[in-house]
Amino acid sequence: MKIGLLGGTGIEGKGIALRFAAAGAEVVVGSRSEERARAASEECNAALGRAQVRGLRNLEMLAWSDLVFLTVPSQHAMEAVKAHRNDIPSGKVLVDVTVPLRFDKGRPTYLEAEEGSNSESIARLLPATVPVVGAFKTIPAHLLAELESPLECDLFVCGDDPEAKEKVMRAGSMIPTLRPVDAGPLSSARTLERMTVLAIHLNRHYKKKGARYKIVGLD
Ligand SMILES: NC(=O)c1ccc[n+]([C@@H]2O[C@H](COP(=O)([O-])OP(=O)(O)OC[C@H]3O[C@@H](n4cnc5c(N)ncnc54)[C@H](OP(=O)(O)O)[C@@H]3O)[C@@H](O)[C@H]2O)c1
Repeated sequence: MKIGLLGGTGIEGKGIALRFAAAGAEVVVGSRSEERARAASEECNAALGRAQVRGLRNLEMLAWSDLVFLTVPSQHAMEAVKAHRNDIPSGKVLVDVTVPLRFDKGRPTYLEAEEGSNSESIARLLPATVPVVGAFKTIPAHLLAELESPLECDLFVCGDDPEAKEKVMRAGSMIPTLRPVDAGPLSSARTLERMTVLAIHLNRHYKKKGARYKIVGLD
């Protein structure tokens, strides 16, 4: 499985890169800048203790990857996808992890778009040959980046293309203690994005950092 990250130089991108690389996947961190891509990959490799993550410009990463994780700030997601809509070869899957929210004095508010979730808006920008899957939205980035901490939670995966969703679930199952859960159609991203906002509220209220979800009754 070739995992690529569009805008993978932030905490979320590096966290996902680290978890997949630690599980044995080939990983490329993408960036608008070759230098930042290289620096992020070196950071990941230092944490892994081996050279397994490469850094490339976004354009080259897109040509190489099977699964492309969109890990740019939510407010720049549409712009980043528009910039690359013709660079993503048919058959690749775009995995949207973005969560549109705003912080006011530390309190998050969900930024609801008229047309639905970020994932649905992104899907409308892409050709049907590049399916969009929503995933990793409810998992805290800092926890992904702490390889020594087990995730012990569910990975909700939603999408309208069953094959693409299955690919992402299969990839997710490589990561120890993460349980992929089929969360239904892409419109479920509206719920998943709100669940992230709730998890942030819970963290604030209980003075924790790692609130996340595990559904009971599925086994
Ligand atoms: N923090 C969490 O716990 C968490 C949990 C779930 C989901 N998420 C989602 O994860 C995403 C990434 O979060 P983050 O904190 O890692 O973000 P970030 O550090 O602010 O940004 C990640 C990278 O995006 C690239 N980028 C910024 N503006 C861009 C633009 N206009 N066009 C293209 N690329 C751009 C930059 O890479 P280059 O400059 O190197 O190109 C940047 O390093 C967000 O959408 C967030 O909602 C976060």
